[in-house]
Amino acid sequence: MSVASRPIHHFDEIQSLHEIPTPALVCDLGMMLSNIARMSTLAGAAGVSLRPHVKSHKSAFIARRQLDAGAIGLSCAKVSEAEAVIARLDLDGYAKRVSVLITSPVVGAVSAERICELAARCDLSVVVDDPTGVDELAAAADSSGVVLSVLCDVDVGLARTGVVGAPGALRVVERIGEHSSLDFAGVQGYGGHLQHIKGRAARIEATRTATELLGEVIDAIESSGHPVRVRTGGGTGTSGIDFELGVLNELQAGSYIFMDREYRDALGSDLEGRFEHSLKIATTVISANQRDFVTVDAGIKAMATDVDSPLVFGHENSVSYEFFGDEHGLVTNSPDHHFCRGDRLELIPPHCDPTVDRYDFIWLVQGDVVIGVADVVARGCSQ
Ligand SMILES: Cc1ncc(COP(=O)(O)O)c(C=O)c1O
Repeated sequence: MSVASRPIHHFDEIQSLHEIPTPALVCDLGMMLSNIARMSTLAGAAGVSLRPHVKSHKSAFIARRQLDAGAIGLSCAKVSEAEAVIARLDLDGYAKRVSVLITSPVVGAVSAERICELAARCDLSVVVDDPTGVDELAAAADSSGVVLSVLCDVDVGLARTGVVGAPGALRVVERIGEHSSLDFAGVQGYGGHLQHIKGRAARIEATRTATELLGEVIDAIESSGHPVRVRTGGGTGTSGIDFELGVLNELQAGSYIFMDREYRDALGSDLEGRFEHSLKIATTVISANQRDFVTVDAGIKAMATDVDSPLVFGHENSVSYEFFGDEHGLVTNSPDHHFCRGDRLELIPPHCDPTVDRYDFIWLVQGDVVIGVADVVARGCSQ
């Protein structure tokens, strides 16, 4: 098995984690593969298919590992994200076999045409939440001669995208039925507002409410004569609950491969939180002249800052990191440990998805040994 998506050409001489130029994004391959295996086992036991979200890693290499571990396909947030990953999987002659769901509705003829072009290169589905959107997809499918698989996106309380309630769903599904170039495959109900609810009991209650909403919409669609084959949604935070509730038959979880501080804080030792922190930001102490703290070379530009500060791996409870400008961070010394100039630290990112999007590639390590790199092929692909 090739463990890297490409050889580390200009970094050939770097063999150890401690030699990687910092700041850098580093993933422990063994931990990530064990996260992939764990989710695969849990989903398999529940009889739910996995359609992991590419938005977390934006890497064809990692997508391959997920597919090899039994995922039935991939979720992609945007058309360009799917295009980038499929282009790289194409190099291995693999893309044609891959099922991809685009989980955000698209607007306009150009996007619809791009979707139809992509549908010729992989097994593509797309969500829609508006009758006009249905017509746009149908027009593009008609002129390109493909039959497009379409899912109705249902708002389960997040209120970001999706039809509101059964009447909205029926309007969309009926409209899909009017077009021979579209195939109604099922529904998406993604509860982003549920994923980081602290405390499993509260998360279960909120997820049950959202899932009941989805169930009612599914019943209404099926009563109108349209079988709902696919019921996709869910994330890392609700994964175990989604498995128990049994309404979704596909889980779109993404962050479980890496985990981040936001999920660690929300999930603690809950079933859904028992994944390893495989992704870290390697950073170096570049100045240590102050008594109470040192300065490291990873600042705002090295990670997403939308949630909280990163945690210092191995010192989570004794020291803290504070943002110290674009290129710098402050790490406190603890009473029993003072960091020195040149020390290398690892930070658990606050939020993995947008942090990954700041890097061209992820270093893959096994313990301290560098194995290769995984290109973030869909970096910046938010169109
Ligand atoms: C539509 C959709 N599905 C699935 C996910 C994956 O969720 P998580 O990374 O929390 O597992 C996301 C994340 O934002 C999403 O937007």
